[in-house]
Amino acid sequence: MAKINSNYRKLPKSYLFSEIAKRTEAFLEKNPKVEILKLGIGNTTEPLAPSVIDGLINGVKKLAKLDSYTGYGDEQGDSRLRQALSDWYKHSLPAGAGKKRGINLLADEIFISDGAKPDAANISSIFSPDSVVAITDPVYPVYLDSNVIAGKKIVYLSADEKNGFIPTLPKQKVDLIFLCFPNNPTGAVATKKQLKEFVDYATGNRAVIIFDAAYSEYIKDKNLPTSIYEIKGAKSCAIELQSFSKSAGFTGVRLGWTVVPKDLIVEGSQPGEINQFWHRRQTTMFNGASNIAQEGGLAILSAEGQKQTRKQVNYYMENAAIIKRGLKDMGLTVFGGENAPYLWVKCPEGLSSWEFFDKLLKKAHVVGTPGSGFGQMGEGYLRLSAFGHRENVRKAMISIKENLNL
Ligand code: MLT
Repeated sequence: MAKINSNYRKLPKSYLFSEIAKRTEAFLEKNPKVEILKLGIGNTTEPLAPSVIDGLINGVKKLAKLDSYTGYGDEQGDSRLRQALSDWYKHSLPAGAGKKRGINLLADEIFISDGAKPDAANISSIFSPDSVVAITDPVYPVYLDSNVIAGKKIVYLSADEKNGFIPTLPKQKVDLIFLCFPNNPTGAVATKKQLKEFVDYATGNRAVIIFDAAYSEYIKDKNLPTSIYEIKGAKSCAIELQSFSKSAGFTGVRLGWTVVPKDLIVEGSQPGEINQFWHRRQTTMFNGASNIAQEGGLAILSAEGQKQTRKQVNYYMENAAIIKRGLKDMGLTVFGGENAPYLWVKCPEGLSSWEFFDKLLKKAHVVGTPGSGFGQMGEGYLRLSAFGHRENVRKAMISIKENLNL
C-alpha cells in the first residue's frame, strides 16, 4: 500500500508567496478599482539589458541552423559558460571593490542549473538522511521546507536585532548549515570575520556550509565578502549557490549555478566524491538549463553585459534607498537595503507581521511580505523588496505616508 510522505503535513498549508498572492487577489476581488503596489516577492521588473537580449537572440538563431543546432547540452552545463564563470570568480571586480575577486575554481567544480531555488532544495540529498541541518531564523523558506520534507532534523540559529541579524554559531554539533548573504529576508550581510567563524566551525566539525550568494551583486561595501570562497579554508567545507535571477533579471529566464569544490570532504568521503555525487544527482534528475538561457548567461558575463546588468542592480538599489529614507522619515525602524535589495521593517505600534501586512494592503494598497512567514524570529517585522518600477516605489511611499498615520 502506498503511503504519503507525512512530512508534508509539517509544512505550512501553502508556500509563503502563494499565501500572499491569495490574500492580495481576495482583496482585489472586493476592491477591483484599486491599484496594488507590489513590494512583496523579490521579482525583477526591469527589461533585460540589450547585450543580454542579443545573447538570447543568438541562442535562438543557433537553433535555426543545421550546423549550430544543439539538443541536450554538455553535462554540468555549457563548458564555455562554466569556464566564463571560473574566469568571473578569478578576474571580475565586485561592484564596490577596488580589487578582483581572485577566487580559483575549476570549470568542473561549477554546475549550471535553472536557478538557485531548485539547487537549494535538492542539495541536502547528497548528504546522509540523518544529517542535522542548521537553518537560520528568519530564513528563505526553501531551505527549511525542503529539509522538513526530507525528514531531516533541524536546528535553528536565531538572527535578531541583538546580533545584527547575523546568526551565532550552532551550540551543538550539526552537519549542514544553510547561510544566505546578502540575506533574504533581513538584508544583513556577514563580514569576513563572521563568515570565518562559520568556516572554522564547519572545518572543526566536518560540517558543510551551503552558502546562498544569489544577491552578491548587491554588495556595495568593498569590505564585505561576495562569495564564501573569499574566506580561507572554505573550499574544503562549503558549497555555493548562485543565480543570474536577481543580478541580471533572469527570474523568468531561469539560470544559476552551484559550486561543489573538489576539495570538499566530509566524514568518510574521498576528495572529489561530493563533487561526483552532485554530478550524479544532476545528470540523473536534471537535463540541463536551456541552451538559449545559457547563451544569455554568456552575454551577461561579457564586459558589456557586466556593465549593463550592473546598471539594473544600481536601479534597484536606488529603489532600496528611496524606501529606506521614506520609511525612516515616517519614524519606522528599518534594517537592510544598503548592500541588499531587501528592507526589514519593524512593525509599528506592536502590530504582528500579518496585522501590519493587512494594514499596508488595505489602507495603503502596498504588498509586503510578513516577517513571520520567514520564521518565528521574523514575527514583528515585515520585508519590503526593492524590485519594482521606480514610479511604483515612489507611489508606494506616498501612499504609506498619506494613509497609514504612522
Ligand atoms: C523572495 O521574494 O524571497 C524571492 O524572490 C523568492 C525566490 O527568489 O525564490
